Amino acid sequence: AIESKLDSLLGIMTLEEKIGQMNQYNGFWDLTGPQPKEGAAAKKYEHLRKGWVGSMLNVRGVKDVRAVQKIAVEESRLGIPLIIGFDVIHGYKTMSPIPLAESASWDMEAIKKSAEVAALEASAAGINWTFAPMIDISRDARWGRVMEGGGEDPFLGAKIGVARVQGFQGEELSANYTIAACAKHFAGYGFSESGRDYNTVDIGTSTLNNIVFPPFRAANDAGVKTFMNSFNELNGIPATGNKMLQRDVLKGDWNFTGFIVSDWGSITEMIAHGYAKDGKKAAELAANAGSDMDMESYLYVEHLADLVKEGKVEEKLINDAARRILRVKYELGLFDDPYKYCDEKREKEVLGSSENNDAVLDIAKKSIVLLKNENQLLPLKKEGQKIALIGALASDKNSPLGSWRIAADDDTAISVLEGMQQYKGNSLKYAKGADVSIGNTAFVTETKINTTDKGELGEAIKAAKDADVVVMVLGEIGFQSGEGRSRTELDLPGVQQELLEAIYKVNTNIVLVLNNGRPLAIPWADEHIPAIVEAWHLGTQSGNAIAQVLYGDYNPSGKLPMSFPRNVGQVPIYYNYKNTGRPTEPAPDIVFWSHYSDQKNSPLYAFGHGLSYTTFEYSNLKVTTENQSYNNPKVLVSIELANTGDYEGKEVVQLYIRDLFASITRPVKELKGFEMISLKPGETKTVNFELDKETLGFYDNKNTWIIEPGEFEVFVGGSSDKTMKSTFELK
Ligand code: IFM
Repeated sequence: AIESKLDSLLGIMTLEEKIGQMNQYNGFWDLTGPQPKEGAAAKKYEHLRKGWVGSMLNVRGVKDVRAVQKIAVEESRLGIPLIIGFDVIHGYKTMSPIPLAESASWDMEAIKKSAEVAALEASAAGINWTFAPMIDISRDARWGRVMEGGGEDPFLGAKIGVARVQGFQGEELSANYTIAACAKHFAGYGFSESGRDYNTVDIGTSTLNNIVFPPFRAANDAGVKTFMNSFNELNGIPATGNKMLQRDVLKGDWNFTGFIVSDWGSITEMIAHGYAKDGKKAAELAANAGSDMDMESYLYVEHLADLVKEGKVEEKLINDAARRILRVKYELGLFDDPYKYCDEKREKEVLGSSENNDAVLDIAKKSIVLLKNENQLLPLKKEGQKIALIGALASDKNSPLGSWRIAADDDTAISVLEGMQQYKGNSLKYAKGADVSIGNTAFVTETKINTTDKGELGEAIKAAKDADVVVMVLGEIGFQSGEGRSRTELDLPGVQQELLEAIYKVNTNIVLVLNNGRPLAIPWADEHIPAIVEAWHLGTQSGNAIAQVLYGDYNPSGKLPMSFPRNVGQVPIYYNYKNTGRPTEPAPDIVFWSHYSDQKNSPLYAFGHGLSYTTFEYSNLKVTTENQSYNNPKVLVSIELANTGDYEGKEVVQLYIRDLFASITRPVKELKGFEMISLKPGETKTVNFELDKETLGFYDNKNTWIIEPGEFEVFVGGSSDKTMKSTFELK
């Protein structure tokens, strides 16, 4: 039925109106105030009235959305409603943990729920389209945008991407509490050279097909409505002008029926890339390559009609792009009621509700990873303890909101200090130790700690001396990761390392709580500090989540979705590496094997690592080959998991395989299954997995899924570096 409505509508649209659907404008100005008579905003109003704008981004709040929608619907010739886009990356007003943190939960239901809450709030504020999930696989912690993704693994990344798409879009896209999702950035953006944002990407076919594409394929299979292309060039062709990516793979091989939006200004940027000589050529290249909507390059609206008349862009491509965009608008139900997301009463009730806060607290707890816990320093005793809480981040109410939190109000996160103050049985003394100057939060790139203030340091040292346990909250401020925030160092920024060492001199009983948007390299802390808790940027309920974990009211269950390096020189570092021709350490004095002369190859904390307050033991790994034929294999794997400690706890049991010999070399380990198991002390469960043609193959260099006969290894355990091993063969 939608297709025939689209036929009728497209039939009465002028070429310019169809191109108008392909035009998206930013709306960062007062939309409810008097309309400007000249300048860029005046032109945008004029275009809205002409029906030359298909979408606005960064318009938010019912009042503003209604105002802009009213112009499109009531003042343009055909009254086609706008689709309103916004970066709802990890929540709207009530912030969830940053996506990398959520990914550490390995809990797809919780991740889906978090996206549901984000959609609920955003839709109540007038928005119907999010530019999320970001599903760029990345192996480079220097890249600031790792905070926004699912980590380094394509199998986990695909599951997370699907959970987010399902959470945003729900079962019923036309409901007023769900929004269209956007799989971004297509493709390769996470492989920006040297982790520098927007940098060149040059990767091989096998990496593209087996590492970069799988989450995008999965998001498409899950019915994601839109894709965003990426700023980077891929093997010499900017993604925005890349026909292979957009027309051949996505719209061709994968049958994607939604639309592709460019990234901000990425059509114009093809000039700087050295791919298009001017704006007109850039518009031609982007449209022909399959970029359906122009975000803020202003080039489609300016040049596409001429390009069609000159025969440089076929009108059927314009029809196709407009149809794709209008289809999503129909599916959202915007043609039935363009103001369906514009209910002030609902906006007031939904934003920041206690239910939403409960939901983000739940996922925040699940996102925390216990990296180290010597002598069971954690959980903290609830009574009779003197606790010193040290670090500027411990009282920070802004940083935990993380990067990409445009609609969240400043200083609305619960700080660790506030969270710990809920536990009244201990005495708690807070001392900043050193200042973290966060300056202009939008643009800050560096944390500056004032070492000269001996007073503050002295106070912290005194508090630490007097304490039974010291809790130190160190790491990165919220805007130190995210877009445009790449780093060349991965240590604790500023003088936080010095602060840590100064406190350690007077009290070694330290619990280090990390707040950060990327893996950090903390070898000194790993060697000296008895307990380390990875708490990322956990959103609005951060401090409550951290306190509940520190005090054992929640037993940590998170596992790392990215490897933590020993130092920055190891980056890119990832668990699913290739073996090379010279893989094994022969003897200490042998030079010619694949290694560093000054550091180990292994990471400090491996992908999949994460401890619990209880202990788990794995035993009895069994592999049964039910069908040995490589055409249709069925391999059953089981293992016993026992809770051998004193606490009830959850463990993410991980299954990896290795295809030992293949026509394209395979990684030493590939995640192919995981399951979260909950066990009481003393309890044992058998965990079962099935491997089949979906999991035992790989993409060849033509992007076709193949399975080959031969030997496989199978590994099961609680981390990529701690597994039991068995083997099987396909014939
Ligand atoms: O959605 C983002 C994208 O990920 C990076 N550039 C800007 C877009 C819109 O804000």
